[in-house]
Amino acid sequence: MNGQATNNHYSTEICNGVRSRSGGLFESEEEELSGQAEAWRFTFAFVDSLAVKSAVLLGIPDIIARQAPNATLSLSQIAAHLPSEKPDLNCLFRILRFLVAKKFFRAETAMSTEEGVDVEMRYGLTPASKWLVKDGVSMAAMLLMQNDRTSVAPWHHFNECVVKGGVAFEKANGAHIWEYASAHPDYNDLFNSAMACNANIVMKAVLSKYQGFRSLNSLVDVGGGTGTAVAEIVKAYPAIKGFNYDLPHVVATAPHLPGVKHIGGDIFKSVPSADAVFMKWIMHDWPDEDCVKILKQCRKAIGERGKVIIVDVVLDSREKAALDPNLGIVFDLVMIAHSSGGKERTEEEWKKVLEEGGFPRFNVISIPALQSIIEAFPY
Ligand SMILES: C[S@@+](CC[C@H](N)C(=O)[O-])C[C@H]1O[C@@H](n2cnc3c(N)ncnc32)[C@H](O)[C@@H]1O
Repeated sequence: MNGQATNNHYSTEICNGVRSRSGGLFESEEEELSGQAEAWRFTFAFVDSLAVKSAVLLGIPDIIARQAPNATLSLSQIAAHLPSEKPDLNCLFRILRFLVAKKFFRAETAMSTEEGVDVEMRYGLTPASKWLVKDGVSMAAMLLMQNDRTSVAPWHHFNECVVKGGVAFEKANGAHIWEYASAHPDYNDLFNSAMACNANIVMKAVLSKYQGFRSLNSLVDVGGGTGTAVAEIVKAYPAIKGFNYDLPHVVATAPHLPGVKHIGGDIFKSVPSADAVFMKWIMHDWPDEDCVKILKQCRKAIGERGKVIIVDVVLDSREKAALDPNLGIVFDLVMIAHSSGGKERTEEEWKKVLEEGGFPRFNVISIPALQSIIEAFPY
């Protein structure tokens, strides 16, 4: 409550200040107007995420995809599949109109209107909404987790983190994320599903580019969530004995996966022995000193000739043009929101933690994903 009161207090001051100074801030009327347009865009940037969230919760991408990937459906055809006897068509129309303007859906020309609603307008999927169909490889679970109230609440505490320090997730939710997830099964499921959905996407990229699993007899996925990544590795390399290692409350909900043994434990205390350690989206959750502790546990687990295969963002990696080049620094802010001191790292920063953790030699391998592979050796 204190944080909110502080925000409101500052808002009033800022508004008053701009009103009296605006004439002097801009170099031209054109700059003033284009600046205002941009400021409106920042003001309502959340509308994109939350309008898409409502469409995903309503299952609209699924409803369209169930007909055919290129199908178009009218408002009433979409409405007929919603879990309601009498959905509010006006509200649905307005959400869809916005999402068509944003190119999340496409629309075929309207033919007639009824009470201001284009009843004959037909809606179809675009490349973006195809990724939000909840079937197979999908980003739907990630979108729902990132836009869940628990995940969004820490973002409201960034200013407080700057002024007083501390962990945004704890300020918002009363506990660090892993403690919170262990006490809230719904959030645990939401988080683990989001991770599994990303693991599905990224493992396709990892397995298409990386040959370093070939010589292995065993591999442990450290912080492997519910085991999606290691399951994909053993599917591609059936000779590998796969272990999925995560906190007990996470592996307790993991499904049976052929070729994978789930083990509950704490990465700061020990890591099960294997030829190699795989770690996807683990190191970015922790500050350097914790990464060094984790790497030391990994080094003990793999012996002298083993390796760690890290899948994480390398901030200055030059080969990420296929995705938004700012996505790495977006995730760096996600680390302020959700982790306890974690961050995304440049190659130089990776070198430092790897060396201190006992891995003096490493390669960065680009893959067609947000993350890169960092293959590190203790010799
Ligand atoms: C960002 S998620 C990544 C999950 C998975 N590697 C993936 O990319 O899909 C981080 C994982 O680390 C696990 N984790 C956090 N602290 C841990 C600890 N002390 N010991 C073991 N696992 C831990 C979490 O439960 C979570 O599954």
